[in-house]
Amino acid sequence: MQFENKIICDGLLNKSLEVKMQKLIIYGPAKLMGEIEVEGAKNAALPILTASILAQNKVIITNIPDIADVRHTIEILKYLGCKVLFENNTVVLDSSSIERFTIPPEYAKLMRSSVLFMGALLSKFRRAELSNHPGGCEIGQRPIDLHISAFRQLGIEVFEHNNRIMCRCDKVKGSEIFLPIPSVGATENIILASIFCDGEVVIKNAAKEPEIADLCHFLNKLGAKIRGAGTHIIKIEGVRKLKSEEVVHKVIPDRIVAGTYLCAVAACGGEVVLKNVFPRHLDSILHILKSSGCKIKELKNEIWIKREERLKGGLRITTHYYPGFPTDLQAPVCSAFAVASGVTIIKETIFENRFKHVPELVKMGADIHVEKDIAVINGVEKLRGCKVFARDLRGGAALFVAGLSAQGVTEVMDADYIDRGYERIEEKYSLLGAKILREKGE
Ligand code: EPU
Repeated sequence: MQFENKIICDGLLNKSLEVKMQKLIIYGPAKLMGEIEVEGAKNAALPILTASILAQNKVIITNIPDIADVRHTIEILKYLGCKVLFENNTVVLDSSSIERFTIPPEYAKLMRSSVLFMGALLSKFRRAELSNHPGGCEIGQRPIDLHISAFRQLGIEVFEHNNRIMCRCDKVKGSEIFLPIPSVGATENIILASIFCDGEVVIKNAAKEPEIADLCHFLNKLGAKIRGAGTHIIKIEGVRKLKSEEVVHKVIPDRIVAGTYLCAVAACGGEVVLKNVFPRHLDSILHILKSSGCKIKELKNEIWIKREERLKGGLRITTHYYPGFPTDLQAPVCSAFAVASGVTIIKETIFENRFKHVPELVKMGADIHVEKDIAVINGVEKLRGCKVFARDLRGGAALFVAGLSAQGVTEVMDADYIDRGYERIEEKYSLLGAKILREKGE
């Protein structure tokens, strides 16, 4: 494979960030039938791509989803000086010529995961600079106080000025860090910053998400010494140097994309086999859908789901850290239960502002009331297609699911949000029999 040599300039950065205002037009209702391959996990691919700047040799990462957030991460990697080739869901990356340690503001503002470059760059250069507080979907305040406080406990100096965050250190010192919240990003950032620490860093109350375990698996292949990933206590023993061999890694399947398919079948009815999934990562949503009348069989890397009768509501669902019910599936689940029988109650405990899809679902005829962190869903017989606006990634996916089950035409505006985390969603669902068009929005 040939590496693409790209000239970096500010103009190019801005062009790649242009808002395209995509619109998805869904002709409902759909009945979903067939088999579909689930793409690799966004939230594993992003930290793994970030971590790959530490590799001593070339890395080959497969099962990378072709989504906007991955493309933006690749832009950052190129900006920093890496040579990157992205083709057929595979990234080949050579970081031997990396020379910069600053993340430009356009990228910091765009993606929450840009914050992870801090940990990786600190391990690489003992310096890192984020030119703006990390942005991303506006689903809550999303501070980074836990990241910064952990860095300080590791002996890293952190300065904040005009929204710019600058970090530097001589050596990351072995320490024990207790996280008051098992934050996914803070856990990942501590791990990334601690690879070459003096002695050992122990993270207590670490996040247990499978994407963190995948990141650690990749880092260990590079030569890091991390134990306990996937549990509440993660130990990183500092190494002097990483291995010089080339590393190949396959990203785990996306449990949220898989969960969204399951919600879509639950909402629309039909019979679908999901391939390339790890059913054990989906226990919480599978339990909910089984309790609501869906027929489900779990095989090694496959899930079969069939929904014939109307979905039965009446559940109380609360979002939680893994292995609890994931906040990232709260919105698609709302769409499925909007057309279930009975009353379903959903409590969002992770983010403060993650019900932005609800007013749009109400426009489609849903009967949902939100009071603070609780949504009360009175299931209706059917939704009606209309023009709705995506306000964030998972909320956008929820409107897409609602559009599939609704009578008539649904236009999901600002579908760019959906493209951040779902690979060519209209093509994938068309393979299952849905009728969807993509257009540039007004
Ligand atoms: N929090 C703090 N201070 C911090 C860090 C987090 O108060 O320094 C709070 C957050 O505001 C939030 C809670 O802790 O209320 C959990 O946040 P966490 O740090 O765990 O989330 P994150 O790392 O920002 C990742 C995913 C999110 C997913 C959450 C929770 C990535 C790139 N993002 O975000 O994914 O919702 O974990 O599982 O991994 C998505 O894919 O749509 C998405 C938003």
